[in-house]
Amino acid sequence: MTELEDEADNRLYILFWQLYALVYDRILLSLLPYRRLQDAVAKSLNPRSEAYILDAGCGTGNLLYHLIRLKPEVKAVGIDFAPAMIRRARLKCRKYRTHRQRIYLRKVDLNSKIPYNNGEFQAVACINVLYAVKRPDFLLREINRVLKDRGRLVLVTPPYQPKMGPIFIEHVENMKNRRPYFWPFFLAGQLLSLAPWLFTFLILNMFIKKQESFHFLKEEELVSLVESCGFKLISLKKIYGNQDWFLEAEKINEKPGNKISFSN
Ligand SMILES: C[S@@+](CC[C@H](N)C(=O)[O-])C[C@H]1O[C@@H](n2cnc3c(N)ncnc32)[C@H](O)[C@@H]1O
Repeated sequence: MTELEDEADNRLYILFWQLYALVYDRILLSLLPYRRLQDAVAKSLNPRSEAYILDAGCGTGNLLYHLIRLKPEVKAVGIDFAPAMIRRARLKCRKYRTHRQRIYLRKVDLNSKIPYNNGEFQAVACINVLYAVKRPDFLLREINRVLKDRGRLVLVTPPYQPKMGPIFIEHVENMKNRRPYFWPFFLAGQLLSLAPWLFTFLILNMFIKKQESFHFLKEEELVSLVESCGFKLISLKKIYGNQDWFLEAEKINEKPGNKISFSN
């Protein structure tokens, strides 16, 4: 691919994510498994007061917003290449005016070098972004570079052949537990009010699934990728209706190849 073609390709992807930003929060924030996923990442990051955290591919800022509420004194940076996503993240974090100065949002293409110094962050979260970049190994090496020694990576990424159905099923199960008697009414209300956005959302997700350039990794591929980029695996499990890997890892100094253990 020539540089020009590469540039055109990138613009197309930015356009795609700009479109996605229009429906993103409306659908995802209505989905209980998505909220639980954000909560799990925020808890896994468990930021100490002085910690500096990077959300690589922050989207509409849901994790950052969650982090502020969990730890108001948190200092974090959210980066993403889609201006519409960043705009929404900015609006969301602005609600917490007193902490605004501690949350920075910036337009950055993760196919290029991350514009931060070596060892600047104590922890990095990367939720459902790795699959969409051109070179996942390049991104993971960049994340490794900007992390402090023994810094934490919380990586969430879809497995090989992901599906939407199990996420909706988990949503219904969660709803049944929350509202044992009234859940059919809540669900019907949600479906009716979200119908036009749901349709667009499903079309966009079909596009994602069909993209041959996207990277949906099997367990062993993900583990060896993460290890080969200078991390030691801490844990690996499935989350989000089993349609995401949830991986916790730590930056290591030594060459990869350590023996690791993980559960599915
Ligand atoms: C599925 S969304 C996930 C957003 C957020 N992490 C979340 O959990 O809600 C994927 C995000 O990755 C961003 N993204 C995809 N490719 C990117 C790239 N090359 N550089 C920066 N951001 C990218 C998109 O703009 C989008 O906001």
